[in-house]
Amino acid sequence: MDFKAEIAKKISGLVDIELDKVMELIEIPPQTNMGDYAFPCFQLARVMRKSPNMIASELSGKVMADSIVEKAEAVGGYLNFFVNRKEYIKHTVREVLEKGEKFGSSEDGKDKNVIVEFSSVNVAKPFHVGHLFNTVLGSALERIYKHSGYNTIKINHLGDWGTQFGKLISAYKRWINEEALEQEPISELFRIYVKFHEEAERDPALEDEARAYFKKLEEEDSEVTALWQRFKDLSLREFSRIYEALNVEFDSYAGESFYSDKMDEVVQMLREKKLLKDSNGAKIVDLEQFNIPPIMILKCDGATIYATRDLAAAIYRKRTYDFYKNIYVVGGTQSLHFNQIFSTLGLMGFEWSKDCVHIGHGLVKFADKKLSTRKGDVVFAMDVIHEAINKTMEIIENKNPNLDNKEEVARKVGMGALLYTFLRNNREKDVVFTWEDALNFDGDSGPYVQYTYVRGRSILKKAGNISDAADLSYLSTEDEFQLVKLLGAFKDSIREAVERYEPFVVIRHVTEIAKAYNKFYNTHPILNAEDNVKNARLQLTKAVGTVIKTGLGLVGIETPENM
Ligand code: ARG
Repeated sequence: MDFKAEIAKKISGLVDIELDKVMELIEIPPQTNMGDYAFPCFQLARVMRKSPNMIASELSGKVMADSIVEKAEAVGGYLNFFVNRKEYIKHTVREVLEKGEKFGSSEDGKDKNVIVEFSSVNVAKPFHVGHLFNTVLGSALERIYKHSGYNTIKINHLGDWGTQFGKLISAYKRWINEEALEQEPISELFRIYVKFHEEAERDPALEDEARAYFKKLEEEDSEVTALWQRFKDLSLREFSRIYEALNVEFDSYAGESFYSDKMDEVVQMLREKKLLKDSNGAKIVDLEQFNIPPIMILKCDGATIYATRDLAAAIYRKRTYDFYKNIYVVGGTQSLHFNQIFSTLGLMGFEWSKDCVHIGHGLVKFADKKLSTRKGDVVFAMDVIHEAINKTMEIIENKNPNLDNKEEVARKVGMGALLYTFLRNNREKDVVFTWEDALNFDGDSGPYVQYTYVRGRSILKKAGNISDAADLSYLSTEDEFQLVKLLGAFKDSIREAVERYEPFVVIRHVTEIAKAYNKFYNTHPILNAEDNVKNARLQLTKAVGTVIKTGLGLVGIETPENM
């Protein structure tokens, strides 16, 4: 039973507002002495020509106490509802235990296809921390959408096409070290790519050579194509280790090259709709009416670019997946690009352009410069992952050297610390990384939440056989009620995360649950309580563990059973 929905029904029976709208209006009061749910009467005041407070107090007289509501009070224009605590606790804890990991899921997205594009790394270039943030964010978003019943499609729009591949082939022919290429493909490819740029400054003829190679690639010359394919295979082999560490898989790796034969059609469409304009030999679409600069479609030499491929990709996705939403998780620096793409699609007459959304995010910065950088300013994702796991291992060796499955725990906790750091705040904010914060077991951190889960597990283990028939009305303290209320609000946090495209809402909520459980645990006995109370508290402990595990899982964090 959903108490909020039941209360909404009561209200809509008393006033002339539809149920859905009442659901939207209901708020959670900031303080517990103001009740558990509040209905603002300000909207009604305009229609009924009475003061909000008068309406609230009239309504309060009509709400009868029952198994849902204990009382309703009018305060400052709000009708505050106090739920029947006993019933609320019983229903909520039961529901968690019955639904298990499905708790918080819904059918909101039934029969709706949602594309989540994320990661979208570049072949032959480093998978850096920025991409890591992106991948973690996109994957969390996808999991949350899936939990809400959407049919999700995960796409990795690989950067595997463009003139840079001509440069790379030219560089390969001149400077490659085959052994290094096999051992550390990305480093080696990146090395020769950087070298190409240095050399080209002295010898501009190199640029012409590179252009010629890219032309060959476009013409599907077999030797050049084979080289390009090899760069791609080697890169993906290296990237796949990162995806494995993150437990991320994709439904499609259709990247930029996939659209190389699908752009003529786009150019044709633009021409037919009379949207293409000449600009010093290049072809552009004017976007002045949207107050943004024009988008380039064809360069002077007739070559297509990144943006052209994105237009082709969007059209292809609509045809293939008939999406309800097409979500692009891409750094905030590309917001103009996506604005241009979506506006152009709109001009082309695709009304579904409104279903395309760019979900931007901030940068990753390091507060302590201790992190090893291999080349220039680029911090490799794999280095950060290794460091997180190694540092966690050191802590385990210090604190708990006899733990049996150290490797596994270090992996889960290290990765958890990392993911938590990326996802704890509003995604637009830059992530400022310090190992101290990430691995702090007491503050808001992945390990803190994981540790709370482990603590609960160990209590349950110590208790041995626990009776499922516990009488939950023995959960009668304020701390217990507040804790259960957070469990009940887990669904709302998921819904909010979906609406705002913000996984941090879920991770924050799970952290609140962990804090509330620790507060409860520190103030009330569990195993030493009298039998009825003990049994009820063990059930509560079980329910808390379930929600923590589900919530962390939704953002890609695993929970160890001991640590
Ligand atoms: N590969 C690009 C980069 O690393 C991101 C691609 C974003 N996706 C897109 N559909 N344009 O910057």
